[in-house]
Amino acid sequence: MKNHTHNAEVDQQSHIDLEDNWQEEAEAVMIRYCGEFSPFLVERAKGSYIYTTDGKAILDFTSGQMCSVFGHNHPEVIKAMEKASKESIHLLSTMLSPPVVQLCKELAEMLPEGLDKAILLNTGAESNEVALRMAKLATGGFEVLGFSGSWHGLTAGAQAHTYAGARRGYGPTIPGSRILPAPYAYRCPIRHCGGTCDHSCLEVGMKLADSQSVGAPAAVILEPILSAAGIVDLPEGYLAKLKAMCEERGMLLILDEAQTAMGRVGSDFAFERDGVVPDFLTLSKTLGGGLPLSATITSKEIEENCYSKGFLHITSHVSDPLPAEVGLAMLRILKQEQLAKKAREQGAYLKAKLLELKKTYECIGDVRGRGLLLGVEIVTDRESKTPAPELGHSISERCLELGLSMNIVRVPGMGGVFRIAPPLTVTKEELDLGVSMLDQAIQDCLEGMA
Ligand SMILES: Cc1ncc(COP(=O)(O)O)c(C=O)c1O
Repeated sequence: MKNHTHNAEVDQQSHIDLEDNWQEEAEAVMIRYCGEFSPFLVERAKGSYIYTTDGKAILDFTSGQMCSVFGHNHPEVIKAMEKASKESIHLLSTMLSPPVVQLCKELAEMLPEGLDKAILLNTGAESNEVALRMAKLATGGFEVLGFSGSWHGLTAGAQAHTYAGARRGYGPTIPGSRILPAPYAYRCPIRHCGGTCDHSCLEVGMKLADSQSVGAPAAVILEPILSAAGIVDLPEGYLAKLKAMCEERGMLLILDEAQTAMGRVGSDFAFERDGVVPDFLTLSKTLGGGLPLSATITSKEIEENCYSKGFLHITSHVSDPLPAEVGLAMLRILKQEQLAKKAREQGAYLKAKLLELKKTYECIGDVRGRGLLLGVEIVTDRESKTPAPELGHSISERCLELGLSMNIVRVPGMGGVFRIAPPLTVTKEELDLGVSMLDQAIQDCLEGMA
């Protein structure tokens, strides 16, 4: 053991004092899982803000890692945690508790027929693993199609269909994983349409997948708005066409709403716009509002099919009461505070402000997205649309210096795209402040380059 000194007094302290050289201390003891860590320590977070240990307030336009969809530390979430801590936090995986059954019931009530039965898990990757495992068990196939630029998580099964990055150097992925081109109208993947997708990319992609198939179809997995791919919304009619193509081939449709559910895009779930019911819906990130909670939801028939084949998915934290209690609070907040409606209104306000910025800056190539999930693509100029990921990165660093946390996604072959997703509880004043900081950051970076 290294330097092991037991100090009872230190054990009693709830406050942690780190030296000024905390960055060195962190690097000495932590696996660096994301390149560089942010250059500050966070003391606390509340609503739309995070507060650093050196006294800075930072406006959060990423809702943490896209999870704190109703603001950081929402009082109802805290109350739910307190309630669970007095009742039960964790149980044997076969034991159920009232909040777990109630959350599955409320989810089924909110969702259309065909999304009837749920399993409660922790992360987004895990919810997709379950959907993929069940789809394989139910169909007997193993071929799965995923979209270019997608992100479904980093456990082996989910990672096989994650094409936004994190692929090289980790060995082979799962056999049967194939790619479909994402319908990214701003940069059409088949150089066909000019800004308005007519679904030709889907037809081309499916033909290629058919010719690669060894006759063991299982599923198609996708996000209704591809987030890590740079906020690529499926064009209207696309999902219905894809669902029909899945049915023709005996493939099940898995919709991953990690980022788009719980009102984020102006409706409770993004798929509502399309009137298409997927075979599996996976919810994560936003469902727990910052706590690790996810769910995989499917039809009675698929569940029965898998059960009859002995479906087994025991994990340490399946059906844990604490996150389920939080999930129930999240559903209550969504309804009581009418946050889907708020996302529509605030999203329209924010989009209008971003489109105003686009008039000023040639480096803003495109503004897109739905509700309060918006994308701003950074290019060298609008005419050539040449990707400018470095400029995007500098702008995001300058934003942080000014007090705004902005997430830039960098997909190979594309510009940097800001993924703007403030909590749905954000005020107009906070949106104005955020846009003014973004404006200032773009101006500063362009002046620095001149
Ligand atoms: C659409 C989508 N699905 C799944 C995941 C994976 O979720 P987790 O990191 O909780 O495993 C993410 C994470 O960014 C995501 O954006």
